[in-house]
Amino acid sequence: MVKLIWQNKKENTLKSEDLKKYIPTFFKTFEYHSLNDKEKLEGFINPQFRSNKLFWGNNLDVLYFLLNNFEEKIDLIYIDPPFFSGTNYEIKIKEDDKFYDSIAYYDHWNNDLSSYLQMLYERILLFKQILSKKGIIFVHSDWHANHYIRLILDEVFGENKFVNNIVWYYYNKYSAGKKNLSRAYDTILVYSNSSNYTFNELRIPRKKPRKQLMRVNIDGVLKNLKDKNGHVRYRTVKDKKLDDVWKIPCLQPASKEWTGFPTQKHHSLLERIIKLGSNEGDLIADFFCGSGTTLAVAEKLKRRWIGCDISEYSIYLTRNRILDYQNEVHKFYPFEILTNLDTEKSNIIESGFFQKEISIKRKK
Ligand SMILES: C[S@@+](CC[C@H](N)C(=O)[O-])C[C@H]1O[C@@H](n2cnc3c(N)ncnc32)[C@H](O)[C@@H]1O
Repeated sequence: MVKLIWQNKKENTLKSEDLKKYIPTFFKTFEYHSLNDKEKLEGFINPQFRSNKLFWGNNLDVLYFLLNNFEEKIDLIYIDPPFFSGTNYEIKIKEDDKFYDSIAYYDHWNNDLSSYLQMLYERILLFKQILSKKGIIFVHSDWHANHYIRLILDEVFGENKFVNNIVWYYYNKYSAGKKNLSRAYDTILVYSNSSNYTFNELRIPRKKPRKQLMRVNIDGVLKNLKDKNGHVRYRTVKDKKLDDVWKIPCLQPASKEWTGFPTQKHHSLLERIIKLGSNEGDLIADFFCGSGTTLAVAEKLKRRWIGCDISEYSIYLTRNRILDYQNEVHKFYPFEILTNLDTEKSNIIESGFFQKEISIKRKK
Protein backbone atom coordinates (compact mmCIF):
# COMPACT_ATOMS: atom_id res chain seq x y z
CA MET A 1 0.00 0.00 0.00
CA VAL A 2 1.19 3.54 -0.78
CA LYS A 3 0.93 5.98 2.15
CA LEU A 4 1.34 9.74 2.26
CA ILE A 5 3.77 11.02 4.88
CA TRP A 6 4.15 14.66 5.92
CA GLN A 7 6.23 16.42 8.53
CA ASN A 8 5.00 15.63 12.07
CA LYS A 9 2.24 13.34 10.80
CA LYS A 10 0.40 12.04 13.86
CA GLU A 11 -1.10 8.70 13.02
CA ASN A 12 -4.22 8.28 15.06
CA THR A 13 -4.38 4.63 15.94
CA LEU A 14 -6.79 5.00 18.87
CA LYS A 15 -9.83 2.74 18.86
CA SER A 16 -13.26 4.35 19.15
CA GLU A 17 -13.67 3.22 22.79
CA ASP A 18 -10.52 5.19 23.73
CA LEU A 19 -11.53 8.17 21.64
CA LYS A 20 -14.72 8.56 23.65
CA LYS A 21 -12.63 9.44 26.69
CA TYR A 22 -11.24 12.47 24.85
CA ILE A 23 -14.34 14.63 24.84
CA PRO A 24 -12.89 18.12 24.99
CA THR A 25 -16.05 20.19 25.35
CA PHE A 26 -19.75 19.83 25.86
CA PHE A 27 -22.22 21.32 23.40
CA LYS A 28 -25.46 22.91 24.60
CA THR A 29 -28.55 23.99 22.68
CA PHE A 30 -29.07 27.76 22.59
CA GLU A 31 -31.90 27.89 20.06
CA TYR A 32 -34.64 25.40 19.27
CA HIS A 33 -37.16 25.58 16.42
CA SER A 34 -40.01 23.15 16.94
CA LEU A 35 -42.87 22.02 14.71
CA ASN A 36 -46.55 22.47 15.52
CA ASP A 37 -48.77 19.39 15.95
CA LYS A 38 -50.03 19.40 12.36
CA GLU A 39 -46.50 19.62 11.00
CA LYS A 40 -45.40 16.79 13.29
CA LEU A 41 -48.07 14.59 11.78
CA GLU A 42 -46.92 15.40 8.26
CA GLY A 43 -43.30 14.63 8.97
CA PHE A 44 -41.95 11.70 10.88
CA ILE A 45 -39.73 12.06 13.91
CA ASN A 46 -37.14 9.42 14.58
CA PRO A 47 -37.19 8.84 18.38
CA GLN A 48 -33.39 8.45 18.40
CA PHE A 49 -32.92 11.76 16.58
CA ARG A 50 -35.53 14.31 17.58
CA SER A 51 -34.13 17.37 15.80
CA ASN A 52 -31.67 18.40 13.13
CA LYS A 53 -28.53 19.97 14.57
CA LEU A 54 -26.45 22.99 13.64
CA PHE A 55 -23.20 23.17 15.64
CA TRP A 56 -21.31 26.41 16.05
CA GLY A 57 -17.73 25.44 16.89
CA ASN A 58 -14.58 23.70 15.74
CA ASN A 59 -15.60 20.54 13.91
CA LEU A 60 -12.92 18.48 15.68
CA ASP A 61 -14.63 19.19 19.03
CA VAL A 62 -18.00 18.46 17.45
CA LEU A 63 -16.80 15.15 16.03
CA TYR A 64 -15.48 13.99 19.41
CA PHE A 65 -18.77 15.07 20.96
CA LEU A 66 -20.77 13.18 18.33
CA LEU A 67 -18.78 9.98 18.76
CA ASN A 68 -20.77 9.38 21.95
CA ASN A 69 -24.15 9.00 20.29
CA PHE A 70 -23.56 9.00 16.57
CA GLU A 71 -20.98 6.32 15.98
CA GLU A 72 -21.99 4.57 12.71
CA LYS A 73 -25.16 6.67 12.50
CA ILE A 74 -24.46 9.08 9.63
CA ASP A 75 -25.41 7.95 6.14
CA LEU A 76 -23.76 10.60 3.99
CA ILE A 77 -21.01 13.13 4.69
CA TYR A 78 -20.22 15.93 2.27
CA ILE A 79 -17.38 18.32 3.08
CA ASP A 80 -16.20 21.41 1.26
CA PRO A 81 -13.27 22.42 3.49
CA PRO A 82 -10.77 25.23 2.89
CA PHE A 83 -8.77 24.15 -0.19
CA PHE A 84 -5.25 25.33 0.84
CA SER A 85 -5.77 28.24 -1.54
CA GLY A 86 -3.50 30.65 0.36
CA THR A 87 -6.32 33.22 0.64
CA ASN A 88 -8.50 34.45 3.47
CA TYR A 89 -12.06 35.05 2.26
CA GLU A 90 -13.15 38.58 3.12
CA ILE A 91 -16.69 39.82 3.50
CA LYS A 92 -18.48 43.15 3.91
CA ILE A 93 -21.20 43.33 6.54
CA LYS A 94 -24.03 45.84 6.66
CA GLU A 95 -25.67 46.15 10.05
CA ASP A 96 -28.02 49.02 11.04
CA ASP A 97 -26.79 51.18 8.14
CA LYS A 98 -23.17 50.65 9.25
CA PHE A 99 -20.62 48.78 7.16
CA TYR A 100 -17.64 46.80 8.41
CA ASP A 101 -15.20 44.25 6.98
CA SER A 102 -14.60 40.80 8.36
CA ILE A 103 -13.28 37.38 7.33
CA ALA A 104 -15.75 34.68 6.29
CA TYR A 105 -13.04 32.05 6.74
CA TYR A 106 -9.30 31.54 6.77
CA ASP A 107 -7.45 29.47 4.16
CA HIS A 108 -3.95 30.97 4.37
CA TRP A 109 -1.87 28.34 6.23
CA ASN A 110 1.41 30.28 5.67
CA ASN A 111 2.30 27.71 3.03
CA ASP A 112 2.37 24.98 5.67
CA LEU A 113 0.95 22.04 3.76
CA SER A 114 1.73 19.63 6.61
CA SER A 115 -0.56 21.36 9.08
CA TYR A 116 -3.31 21.55 6.46
CA LEU A 117 -3.05 17.82 5.74
CA GLN A 118 -2.92 16.96 9.46
CA MET A 119 -6.10 19.03 10.00
CA LEU A 120 -7.96 17.08 7.31
CA TYR A 121 -6.50 13.70 8.26
CA GLU A 122 -7.65 13.94 11.90
CA ARG A 123 -11.17 14.75 10.80
CA ILE A 124 -11.32 12.08 8.07
CA LEU A 125 -10.35 9.43 10.65
CA LEU A 126 -13.34 10.49 12.75
CA PHE A 127 -15.68 10.68 9.74
CA LYS A 128 -15.01 7.00 9.16
CA GLN A 129 -16.14 6.23 12.72
CA ILE A 130 -19.43 8.11 12.53
CA LEU A 131 -20.38 6.91 9.04
CA SER A 132 -22.96 4.12 9.00
CA LYS A 133 -22.06 0.82 7.38
CA LYS A 134 -24.05 1.78 4.26
CA GLY A 135 -22.50 5.28 4.44
CA ILE A 136 -20.72 7.27 1.77
CA ILE A 137 -18.47 10.33 1.88
CA PHE A 138 -17.99 13.11 -0.70
CA VAL A 139 -14.86 15.26 -0.25
CA HIS A 140 -14.72 18.45 -2.30
CA SER A 141 -11.36 20.02 -3.17
CA ASP A 142 -9.38 21.42 -6.10
CA TRP A 143 -5.93 21.31 -7.73
CA HIS A 144 -4.22 22.79 -4.65
CA ALA A 145 -4.47 19.58 -2.60
CA ASN A 146 -6.77 16.99 -4.20
CA HIS A 147 -3.84 14.72 -5.13
CA TYR A 148 -2.85 14.48 -1.45
CA ILE A 149 -6.41 14.12 -0.19
CA ARG A 150 -7.00 11.11 -2.41
CA LEU A 151 -4.07 9.30 -0.78
CA ILE A 152 -5.40 10.15 2.70
CA LEU A 153 -8.81 8.76 1.75
CA ASP A 154 -7.15 5.63 0.35
CA GLU A 155 -5.34 5.19 3.66
CA VAL A 156 -8.38 5.74 5.89
CA PHE A 157 -11.14 4.08 3.86
CA GLY A 158 -9.07 1.69 1.72
CA GLU A 159 -8.25 1.95 -1.99
CA ASN A 160 -10.98 -0.58 -2.72
CA LYS A 161 -13.62 1.77 -1.24
CA PHE A 162 -12.95 4.40 -3.89
CA VAL A 163 -16.22 5.06 -5.73
CA ASN A 164 -15.65 8.07 -8.00
CA ASN A 165 -13.61 11.15 -8.69
CA ILE A 166 -16.36 13.55 -9.77
CA VAL A 167 -15.23 16.49 -11.87
CA TRP A 168 -17.34 19.59 -11.36
CA TYR A 169 -16.76 21.64 -14.50
CA TYR A 170 -17.78 25.27 -13.81
CA TYR A 171 -17.60 26.76 -17.26
CA ASN A 172 -18.68 30.26 -16.19
CA LYS A 173 -15.89 31.17 -13.75
CA TYR A 174 -13.35 33.78 -14.85
CA SER A 175 -9.78 32.52 -14.57
CA ALA A 176 -6.82 34.67 -15.59
CA GLY A 177 -3.92 32.23 -16.15
CA LYS A 178 -1.43 33.47 -18.77
CA LYS A 179 1.19 30.74 -18.47
CA ASN A 180 -1.28 27.95 -17.87
CA LEU A 181 -4.72 26.88 -19.03
CA SER A 182 -7.75 28.26 -17.21
CA ARG A 183 -8.55 26.14 -14.20
CA ALA A 184 -12.17 25.27 -14.64
CA TYR A 185 -12.96 22.33 -12.41
CA ASP A 186 -13.06 21.10 -8.81
CA THR A 187 -12.98 17.46 -7.79
CA ILE A 188 -15.27 15.60 -5.44
CA LEU A 189 -13.74 12.35 -4.23
CA VAL A 190 -16.25 9.70 -3.25
CA TYR A 191 -15.51 6.77 -0.93
CA SER A 192 -17.84 4.22 0.67
CA ASN A 193 -17.63 2.74 4.13
CA SER A 194 -18.37 -0.83 3.02
CA SER A 195 -19.20 -2.61 -0.21
CA ASN A 196 -22.91 -2.36 0.63
CA TYR A 197 -23.43 1.41 0.37
CA THR A 198 -26.36 3.50 -0.84
CA PHE A 199 -25.94 4.55 -4.46
CA ASN A 200 -28.97 5.54 -6.52
CA GLU A 201 -29.00 5.81 -10.29
CA LEU A 202 -29.54 9.37 -11.48
CA ARG A 203 -30.55 10.38 -14.98
CA ILE A 204 -30.20 13.85 -16.48
CA PRO A 205 -31.99 15.36 -19.52
CA ARG A 206 -30.18 15.23 -22.90
CA LYS A 207 -29.77 18.47 -24.85
CA LYS A 208 -31.61 16.88 -27.77
CA PRO A 209 -33.76 13.71 -27.73
CA ARG A 210 -31.97 10.79 -29.40
CA LYS A 211 -33.15 7.77 -31.37
CA GLN A 212 -31.80 4.58 -29.82
CA LEU A 213 -31.97 0.97 -30.96
CA MET A 214 -34.25 -1.15 -28.78
CA ARG A 215 -32.51 -4.23 -27.39
CA VAL A 216 -33.76 -7.50 -25.87
CA ASN A 217 -31.98 -10.01 -23.71
CA ILE A 218 -32.27 -13.44 -25.33
CA ASP A 219 -30.62 -16.23 -23.30
CA GLY A 220 -28.14 -13.75 -21.80
CA VAL A 221 -27.23 -12.16 -25.16
CA LEU A 222 -28.35 -8.61 -26.03
CA LYS A 223 -29.98 -8.51 -29.47
CA ASN A 224 -31.71 -5.81 -31.53
CA LEU A 225 -35.48 -5.90 -31.12
CA LYS A 226 -37.30 -6.31 -34.46
CA ASP A 227 -40.94 -5.83 -35.45
CA LYS A 228 -42.97 -8.53 -37.23
CA ASN A 229 -41.59 -7.40 -40.62
CA GLY A 230 -38.02 -7.86 -39.43
CA HIS A 231 -37.25 -4.12 -39.10
CA VAL A 232 -35.19 -3.01 -36.13
CA ARG A 233 -37.17 -0.93 -33.64
CA TYR A 234 -36.11 2.40 -32.15
CA ARG A 235 -37.19 4.46 -29.17
CA THR A 236 -36.64 8.13 -28.40
CA VAL A 237 -34.58 8.81 -25.28
CA LYS A 238 -34.72 12.21 -23.62
CA ASP A 239 -32.34 11.53 -20.74
CA LYS A 240 -29.08 9.72 -19.98
CA LYS A 241 -27.35 8.12 -17.03
CA LEU A 242 -25.31 10.62 -15.04
CA ASP A 243 -21.54 10.20 -15.48
CA ASP A 244 -18.68 11.62 -13.41
CA VAL A 245 -18.23 14.95 -15.23
CA TRP A 246 -20.81 17.47 -14.02
CA LYS A 247 -21.31 20.68 -15.92
CA ILE A 248 -22.88 23.04 -13.38
CA PRO A 249 -22.28 26.81 -13.31
CA CYS A 250 -20.81 28.64 -10.34
CA LEU A 251 -23.60 30.27 -8.40
CA GLN A 252 -24.13 33.86 -9.56
CA PRO A 253 -25.06 36.81 -7.30
CA ALA A 254 -28.28 37.21 -9.31
CA SER A 255 -29.50 33.76 -8.21
CA LYS A 256 -32.32 33.74 -5.69
CA GLU A 257 -30.31 31.20 -3.67
CA TRP A 258 -27.29 33.51 -3.34
CA THR A 259 -26.48 34.36 0.30
CA GLY A 260 -23.38 36.51 -0.30
CA PHE A 261 -21.03 33.88 1.16
CA PRO A 262 -17.76 33.88 -0.86
CA THR A 263 -17.56 30.19 -1.84
CA GLN A 264 -21.19 29.16 -1.70
CA LYS A 265 -21.78 26.03 -3.81
CA HIS A 266 -24.59 25.57 -6.29
CA HIS A 267 -27.66 23.84 -4.84
CA SER A 268 -27.85 21.63 -8.00
CA LEU A 269 -24.45 20.19 -7.10
CA LEU A 270 -25.65 19.20 -3.63
CA GLU A 271 -28.95 17.93 -4.99
CA ARG A 272 -27.10 15.42 -7.14
CA ILE A 273 -24.82 14.35 -4.30
CA ILE A 274 -27.61 13.86 -1.78
CA LYS A 275 -29.91 12.07 -4.24
CA LEU A 276 -27.08 9.76 -5.34
CA GLY A 277 -25.91 8.70 -1.89
CA SER A 278 -29.00 8.75 0.34
CA ASN A 279 -32.73 8.18 0.63
CA GLU A 280 -35.53 10.10 2.36
CA GLY A 281 -35.11 10.09 6.15
CA ASP A 282 -31.35 9.31 5.98
CA LEU A 283 -28.93 11.37 8.08
CA ILE A 284 -26.65 13.79 6.17
CA ALA A 285 -23.74 15.73 7.68
CA ASP A 286 -21.59 18.65 6.57
CA PHE A 287 -18.83 19.66 9.01
CA PHE A 288 -17.67 22.71 7.01
CA CYS A 289 -21.16 23.95 6.16
CA GLY A 290 -20.42 27.60 5.20
CA SER A 291 -23.68 29.18 4.09
CA GLY A 292 -25.54 25.90 4.69
CA THR A 293 -26.10 24.69 1.11
CA THR A 294 -25.91 20.99 2.04
CA LEU A 295 -28.34 21.41 4.91
CA ALA A 296 -30.81 23.51 2.92
CA VAL A 297 -30.85 20.87 0.16
CA ALA A 298 -31.12 18.03 2.73
CA GLU A 299 -34.11 19.84 4.27
CA LYS A 300 -35.74 20.17 0.84
CA LEU A 301 -35.11 16.49 -0.01
CA LYS A 302 -36.47 15.34 3.38
CA ARG A 303 -33.22 14.06 4.79
CA ARG A 304 -32.28 14.61 8.44
CA TRP A 305 -29.11 16.66 8.89
CA ILE A 306 -26.20 17.70 11.10
CA GLY A 307 -24.21 20.80 10.18
CA CYS A 308 -21.23 22.53 11.71
CA ASP A 309 -19.17 25.66 11.17
CA ILE A 310 -16.68 27.59 13.23
CA SER A 311 -17.77 31.04 12.04
CA GLU A 312 -20.73 33.01 13.40
CA TYR A 313 -21.39 34.38 9.89
CA SER A 314 -21.90 30.85 8.58
CA ILE A 315 -24.21 30.00 11.45
CA TYR A 316 -26.11 33.24 10.82
CA LEU A 317 -26.59 32.47 7.11
CA THR A 318 -27.41 28.78 7.61
CA ARG A 319 -29.92 29.48 10.40
CA ASN A 320 -31.74 32.05 8.29
CA ARG A 321 -31.63 29.92 5.16
CA ILE A 322 -33.28 26.99 6.95
CA LEU A 323 -35.85 29.21 8.68
CA ASP A 324 -36.75 30.95 5.39
CA TYR A 325 -37.25 27.59 3.68
CA GLN A 326 -39.31 26.26 6.58
CA ASN A 327 -41.49 29.38 6.69
CA GLU A 328 -41.96 29.71 2.93
CA VAL A 329 -42.16 26.11 1.79
CA HIS A 330 -42.26 23.24 4.21
CA LYS A 331 -41.30 22.20 7.70
CA PHE A 332 -40.02 18.67 7.81
CA TYR A 333 -38.11 18.42 11.07
CA PRO A 334 -37.42 20.56 14.17
CA PHE A 335 -33.91 21.97 14.39
CA GLU A 336 -31.62 23.19 17.15
CA ILE A 337 -28.44 25.25 17.26
CA LEU A 338 -25.74 24.17 19.69
CA THR A 339 -22.42 25.53 20.82
CA ASN A 340 -19.65 25.06 23.36
CA LEU A 341 -20.10 28.38 25.13
CA ASP A 342 -17.17 30.66 25.90
CA THR A 343 -17.30 34.37 26.78
CA GLU A 344 -16.99 35.51 23.17
CA LYS A 345 -19.77 33.25 21.97
CA SER A 346 -22.03 34.18 24.92
CA ASN A 347 -21.57 37.87 24.07
CA ILE A 348 -22.48 37.26 20.44
CA ILE A 349 -25.62 35.30 21.39
CA GLU A 350 -26.67 37.85 24.01
CA SER A 351 -26.24 40.72 21.52
CA GLY A 352 -29.03 39.09 19.48
CA PHE A 353 -26.63 38.73 16.51
CA PHE A 354 -28.45 35.74 14.99
CA GLN A 355 -31.83 37.49 15.00
CA LYS A 356 -30.51 40.79 13.58
CA GLU A 357 -31.10 42.01 10.04
CA ILE A 358 -27.63 42.05 8.56
CA SER A 359 -26.38 41.61 5.03
CA ILE A 360 -23.19 39.72 4.23
CA LYS A 361 -21.45 40.23 0.90
CA ARG A 362 -18.29 38.80 -0.60
CA LYS A 363 -15.64 41.55 -0.65
CA LYS A 364 -14.45 42.15 -4.21
C1 LIG B 1 -15.55 26.46 1.47
S1 LIG B 1 -16.48 26.96 2.87
C2 LIG B 1 -17.95 25.97 2.72
C3 LIG B 1 -18.93 26.53 1.72
C4 LIG B 1 -20.24 25.76 1.68
N1 LIG B 1 -20.10 24.49 1.01
C5 LIG B 1 -21.35 26.56 1.00
O1 LIG B 1 -21.96 26.10 0.03
O2 LIG B 1 -21.59 27.68 1.48
C6 LIG B 1 -15.59 26.24 4.19
C7 LIG B 1 -16.18 26.50 5.58
O3 LIG B 1 -15.44 25.71 6.52
C8 LIG B 1 -15.46 26.41 7.76
N2 LIG B 1 -14.38 25.85 8.61
C9 LIG B 1 -13.05 25.91 8.42
N3 LIG B 1 -12.39 25.28 9.40
C10 LIG B 1 -13.33 24.80 10.26
C11 LIG B 1 -13.29 24.05 11.46
N4 LIG B 1 -12.15 23.67 11.99
N5 LIG B 1 -14.46 23.72 12.06
C12 LIG B 1 -15.66 24.12 11.53
N6 LIG B 1 -15.76 24.82 10.37
C13 LIG B 1 -14.62 25.16 9.74
C14 LIG B 1 -15.26 27.86 7.37
O4 LIG B 1 -15.69 28.74 8.40
C15 LIG B 1 -16.09 27.94 6.08
O5 LIG B 1 -17.36 28.45 6.37
